[in-house]
Amino acid sequence: MKTMVNIALPKGRLGEQVYAMFEAAGYECPSIREKNRKLIFENEEKGVRYFWVKPSDVAIYVERGAADIGVAGKDILMEYGPDVYELLDLKCGVCKMMVAAPEGFHDDSDRTLRVATKFVNIARNYYAGKSRDIDIIKLNGSIEIAPILGLSDVIVDIVETGTTLRENNLKVYEDIFPISARLIANKANFRFKSAEIERLTNQLKAQVEPE
Ligand code: PRP
Repeated sequence: MKTMVNIALPKGRLGEQVYAMFEAAGYECPSIREKNRKLIFENEEKGVRYFWVKPSDVAIYVERGAADIGVAGKDILMEYGPDVYELLDLKCGVCKMMVAAPEGFHDDSDRTLRVATKFVNIARNYYAGKSRDIDIIKLNGSIEIAPILGLSDVIVDIVETGTTLRENNLKVYEDIFPISARLIANKANFRFKSAEIERLTNQLKAQVEPE
């Protein structure tokens, strides 16, 4: 029987873009384009089985081996630090992790800085590196609202086009790190399926960096 590579893709716009790369690399699975709410699709002939998962869950599926490989943003990898191999920078889903605050914000180093974020570990590490005392306020979305309502002084969040910041009168204060989508692999499964995973990685690499 053919070895199947199990691939966790992030549901949503990035996932669609990434699937198109797998398709162009020769790993198509036509049933994935059918309009339905199925979450698992396979093409036995090509040896691939795709499943759509919440973007922030891809790394968990891969770390625990339920998926052999997957696509996760660098933000998720930095936040959760999963024990996986990072095989390839897919150079899509490009954005940045930033500190933003209302226009005119000045950091008063005598006071604890209140930081609202979804990315508590990233924020904690970043400010620990600057020896800055902070109070983290963990939110799950619409982070931009926090400093407007006085819930926090700054936010640590992802900025892509900058539109959300602009439309809420916030400004970028510091860049933390650049983000893009990465192909990741489960360490043990990579050993069992190394030929298949390496072939797939090389085909994708040709999509990312055409000769
Ligand atoms: C992300 C991020 C920003 C926005 C940035 O939010 O948290 O709010 O995108 O994009 P922009 O710079 O192009 O405006 P997301 O859409 O994931 O929603 P949420 O954080 O509110 O869940």
